Amino acid sequence: MSDIICPQDHPDIDVYAVVGHPIAHSRSPMIHEYFAKETGQAMFYGRIDTPPETFKKVVSDFFAAGGKGLNVTVPHKLLAYEMAEVHSLAAEEAQAVNTLWMQDGRLHADNTDGLGLKNDLERILGSLLQQKKILIIGAGGAAQGVIQPLQAAGAQLSLVNRTLQKALDLKRIFPSLQVHAIDDLAKSESYDLIVNATAAGLQNNSPLQKKTLEKITHPQTLIYDMVYGKDTQFMQDGQELGLKVADGLGMLVEQAAAAFAIWRGIHLTSHQKQGAIQLVRQALLQS
Ligand code: ATR
Repeated sequence: MSDIICPQDHPDIDVYAVVGHPIAHSRSPMIHEYFAKETGQAMFYGRIDTPPETFKKVVSDFFAAGGKGLNVTVPHKLLAYEMAEVHSLAAEEAQAVNTLWMQDGRLHADNTDGLGLKNDLERILGSLLQQKKILIIGAGGAAQGVIQPLQAAGAQLSLVNRTLQKALDLKRIFPSLQVHAIDDLAKSESYDLIVNATAAGLQNNSPLQKKTLEKITHPQTLIYDMVYGKDTQFMQDGQELGLKVADGLGMLVEQAAAAFAIWRGIHLTSHQKQGAIQLVRQALLQS
């Protein structure tokens, strides 16, 4: 299926969209419409469903027709990176892109996922990530996309992955990353935050055994799953251990807020971002 937004259909306002495949489930239009209303911005934000074969043409056509900006989601983040002419540092190190815009005739790209996660973690903790010990689980695109901004925030990052080699590959890109084998994890220190960046929750699995989780946490540890709208096994284990637990909805809203700031030059307040979280949480409960 191809579902294309044509900026010419909305001649009087700035047009944005999220592009993915599939895309019908995306909550990004709801979030950006809310931000636009809150800040008095006249803009239209739609969805574009297109497979990888046509992604680059669809993006070129969108901007050629006057489109102002795109969010990019699964499975196109790598293609968007390849296509962009100017990359932010976060996009460069993630080698993946979730935000595109045209500036001075060149396609610019950023990856706001990591900043989104950092902002959400700081919101939940009520403090900065400086010196915080964070364990990331996973070594796919989701993990790679958040390493640079978390390190830039001064966090001490460790990483484990089911397939050790993929974690070691990431260490070549981010040399200060501490990589552990999952089997050695129980012998390691305890962490202030543990972030699940794997797809395990979508298959009703946890990437760590509960007894391992118990050994590497302390009473204030935050258990965070990047998946949202679902109580994953990883989150349930955290709850049963009496730990503070969060899903990735705040990250979704924060990465959208960071894209909105790039496009519109407007920084949403915490109150406005909280409003968006509540709105989407409500919609998820009703779906
Ligand atoms: P994404 O781009 O969303 O990160 P990905 O590149 O397919 O997706 O990576 C998925 C990640 O989830 C990987 O770290 C994968 O581990 P492997 O590298 O060993 O494949 C991890 N993953 C998926 N299912 C998992 C499971 N059931 N238990 C543990 N890790 C899992």
